[in-house]
Amino acid sequence: MEQERIVTSLDIGSAKVAALTARVGGLDDVELIGVGVAPSRGIKMGAVTNIEQTVRSIREAVEEAELMSGIEIEEVVLNITGKHVRGDNSTGVIAINNRERVVTSQDIYRVIDAAQAIRIPADQEILHVLSREFKVDDQNGIKDPLGMVGVRLEADVHVVTGSVTQLQNTEKAVVSSGIRVNDRILSSLASSSALLTDGEKELGVAVVDIGAGVIDIIIYTDGGVSYTATICLGSQHLTQDISIGLKTPLEAAEMLKKRYGTVLSNEVDPSETIEIPSVGDRAPRPSARRDLADIMEARMREILELIDHEIIRSGKKNILAGGVVFTGGGARVNGLVTLAEEIIQLGASVGSPKGLLGIADRIAYPEFSTAVGLIQYVARYGEATGGRKSGSGFLNRFKTWIQENL
Ligand SMILES: Nc1ncnc2c1ncn2[C@@H]1O[C@H](COP(=O)(O)OP(=O)(O)OP(=O)(O)O)[C@@H](O)[C@H]1O
Ligand SMILES: [Mg+2]
Repeated sequence: MEQERIVTSLDIGSAKVAALTARVGGLDDVELIGVGVAPSRGIKMGAVTNIEQTVRSIREAVEEAELMSGIEIEEVVLNITGKHVRGDNSTGVIAINNRERVVTSQDIYRVIDAAQAIRIPADQEILHVLSREFKVDDQNGIKDPLGMVGVRLEADVHVVTGSVTQLQNTEKAVVSSGIRVNDRILSSLASSSALLTDGEKELGVAVVDIGAGVIDIIIYTDGGVSYTATICLGSQHLTQDISIGLKTPLEAAEMLKKRYGTVLSNEVDPSETIEIPSVGDRAPRPSARRDLADIMEARMREILELIDHEIIRSGKKNILAGGVVFTGGGARVNGLVTLAEEIIQLGASVGSPKGLLGIADRIAYPEFSTAVGLIQYVARYGEATGGRKSGSGFLNRFKTWIQENL
């Protein structure tokens, strides 16, 4: 039986920092025992812009989680997102040259090494090497080639890299909070771990996490990751548009978005009015609720078109039988599924994290998919050995790969 351990995830977002502590017994035995959430400061679109402020947000979230669980947090599994993250597909080919022509683990080691040897800019480092499939001679669609017979072994992988300096800045903020970073996991990989079954990954599905400042996209086909992308827009752009368009403070715009907002302006009665708080000391004034919806719909259309572009760019749009699963706080906006199906022309749904025991109702909302998924990813694959060491050797990266794929 697997040994029980304590795992804490840290999701540093543009709107909130979330720290979740769980007792992990096994894949189906993950019990949430601590939750801490703090408004995030010093983070813009997934990048740390002010370490001191970020440290304060992290401390606040971590201390709240510690208070609830009664367990001191010493190390965390951290999310990674932002403009600096890149995902590329790559292929490696080797000859199977032992006398029996049987694929050994050494051959898998070599072919993955060949596949990840893509031109990685000097300022980027590898975060994940995710296998999509192997081919032995002419046979494709192989998940685990170990022991198969042939002369030629090919590996298709998805390589995720991030900027060395950006990763260092994020890590510095965590370390300055008095916490070690045990592993770093791509946000979308985490979110999808909290939402998807293996069956859905086989079927073909896109997961789109709409946060406050970043949209993380991941596409699974035939059970593997075939595309990842990040768009530097989010639900805070709806808030900013409302603030400017209706001449109301940002906090009021945020409240209006959540309380009266929708991205389907046609469904709003044109005669319905709402109170708009004014800037400064002036009294609130009435305005058509439809104006609010018009502003929100315009921005959400732009966002959904950009998401559609990415899905088309993946080259997999026509095989996504599982459609698009939206998550993240921005997915809670009224009317999203209808507008998304109109624009993207695929089935859409909104997903909340599932599969945790304990105080799971506290986090059963789309904005916790990343934080929950970080724990589930680790529960499933273990901590990556090479995750946080910059310039980590190939051996470490290979161990990471093995854990993530076999
Ligand atoms: N009911 C709602 N209607 C509309 N928007 C909402 C609703 N609830 C939350 N949001 C929006 O979701 C966003 C926060 O989502 P989330 O917590 O997933 O972001 P984050 O993870 O902190 O940021 P990011 O992932 O972009 O770095 C905010 O912009 C908030 O306004
Ligand atoms: Mg987020």
